[in-house]
Amino acid sequence: MRTPAVVPALPVAAVPLPDRVTIYEVGPRDGLQNEKALVPTDVKAEFVRRLLAAGLPVVEATSFVHPTWVPQLADAAELMALLGPAGRDCPVLVPNERGLDRALELGARHVAIFGSATETFAQKNLNRSLDEQFAMFEPTVRRARDAGLDVRAYVSMCFGDPWEGAVPIEQVVGVGKRLFDLGASQLSIGDTIGVGTAGHVTALVRAFDEVGLGTDRLAMHFHDTFGQALANTYAALQAGITTFDASAGGLGGCPYAKSATGNLATEDLVWMLRGLGIETGVDLEEVAATSVWMAAHLGRPSPSAVVRALAPSAT
Ligand code: HMG
Ligand code: MG
Repeated sequence: MRTPAVVPALPVAAVPLPDRVTIYEVGPRDGLQNEKALVPTDVKAEFVRRLLAAGLPVVEATSFVHPTWVPQLADAAELMALLGPAGRDCPVLVPNERGLDRALELGARHVAIFGSATETFAQKNLNRSLDEQFAMFEPTVRRARDAGLDVRAYVSMCFGDPWEGAVPIEQVVGVGKRLFDLGASQLSIGDTIGVGTAGHVTALVRAFDEVGLGTDRLAMHFHDTFGQALANTYAALQAGITTFDASAGGLGGCPYAKSATGNLATEDLVWMLRGLGIETGVDLEEVAATSVWMAAHLGRPSPSAVVRALAPSAT
């Protein structure tokens, strides 16, 4: 018999919301980059494979950043080799031309640059000033596009910055537009430290629309530090956003922003979307089982409320 915890709520569509949402899974990258323990490469490969098998349409696999800056992902090349052809369709982060060269050598077809909306985080995360980051990204994006790659751009600290406090909307829009205009196909708006709230989300999406970056070009990347990620997702859905970044089991954070805790958990997102009657193509139970498996490797339970509800004995 099913326990009440696993009885799904009746799906009830709330209008006007999108019929379908794309979940951009960042667990193997954003999740594992923040783990203290080094996860063996074959476990990472299994993680990526299981997430793909669970129906996640996009699984960001790793980062070609400087290995001493993020030792957790220093095995990016080995991971891509283990993944084989499937890995080439998994996006990877590249901060600069050196990262791009490494990704190209392994046949990557989708790369992502990651900029900062604030001066301090640009320096802490990229060792560049806010303006210098564009000089680093410009040839990276140009060469990636010339090689036929798809490029995503992230912009971090869009709602608040641990060193600079509140970040003005016009500053976020200015940096985001500049990053997108380098040649990206999508801009992912990051609430790196999870301080955003729903009205702010609505205002930011509207402000991007006013400079010509409509909802079809945007993705939202919420961290759940203050428990606002689902409320923010709902606000973004109402504003017309149809791509959401999430991390299996709620793993994640950013090693260069200590207050960045876990990402919005993929399972929490799927549960809400399923309840709203919004299609994702994702098998919730398979993702949750994968998170339970990964939690066992990491030696601590998943912070996702939905994972805990679905698998109480395993968490
Ligand atoms: P730097 O020290 O200024 O690098 O770091 P450099 O350009 O001065 O080069 C120094 C040396 O590093 C050179 O070697 C380069 O070849 C080498 P040398 O000539 O001295 O022998 N090098 C590299 N080696 C391997 N791979 C590379 C690479 N680049 C240079 N890619 C750098 C600048 C950008 C590389 C560094 O700051 C870095 O790697 N930062 C990455 C930090 C990071 O990964 N943070 C987490 C991801 S962002 C995030 O999580 C936020 C997000 O989730 C959205 C959100 O939540 O908001 C995306
Ligand atoms: Mg992140």
